[in-house]
Amino acid sequence: MRIIRAKDYDDMSRKAANIISAQVIMKPDCVLGLATGGTPVGTYAQLVDWYNKGDIDFSQITSVNLDEYRGLKRDHEQSYWYFMHENLFNKVNVKPENIYVPNGSNMDADAACKEYDEIIEKVGGIDLQLLGIGEDGHIGFNEPADNFELGTHCVDLTESTIEANKRFFNSADEVPRQAYTMGIRTIMQARKVLMVANGKNKAQIIKDAFFGPVTPQVPASILQMHPDFILIGDEEALSLV
Ligand code: PGA
Repeated sequence: MRIIRAKDYDDMSRKAANIISAQVIMKPDCVLGLATGGTPVGTYAQLVDWYNKGDIDFSQITSVNLDEYRGLKRDHEQSYWYFMHENLFNKVNVKPENIYVPNGSNMDADAACKEYDEIIEKVGGIDLQLLGIGEDGHIGFNEPADNFELGTHCVDLTESTIEANKRFFNSADEVPRQAYTMGIRTIMQARKVLMVANGKNKAQIIKDAFFGPVTPQVPASILQMHPDFILIGDEEALSLV
């Protein structure tokens, strides 16, 4: 595990974008595992800026996103499909046929999850997985549980996640209660994992996840065992470690 200290959010975003950009330059047809949430927005903005300057080319990459709300259509403004297009895909030259997000509008959870695992296998696994971290230690929507779920699966969101995500909806009642998420095995099989975290509200979970025991009650803690895991945090998020 490598920890990179960033001064602030912009510095964290630039450092993360640098690593993603290096990955794309070294392997132009790489598979990027991408993440939603407030934290990576600045990272995507930096990548778009470098793309506009001609410094990075996404034409050969494939992207597989971590998760999607169950029951939201792609064109719903809070779907992760929509988020990724608004923040990155519509602004760079990634090919639409190389973009994958779990199919939230397929209410048949078993079929949707199986299909997504097959896609990840077909594209050859993930070269670089970008992650945020939830205040309860979730990665993707892998919430605290009694065991690590391995493949793509359907989860019930915890109250803490619903509470954290309601800022994007009109009210907590509108936040979907379930999501499809990549499992822990898929994340752990990514050849490189890059986590971004900023803000005081992440300080305690960063300490628990990476300086405490490895346990499915803190799903991110498993990353302590990943051979190439980089955490980039701002001063606040790293203030307790
Ligand atoms: P955030 O979410 O980036 O909006 O804090 C992180 C997460 O829930 O994984």
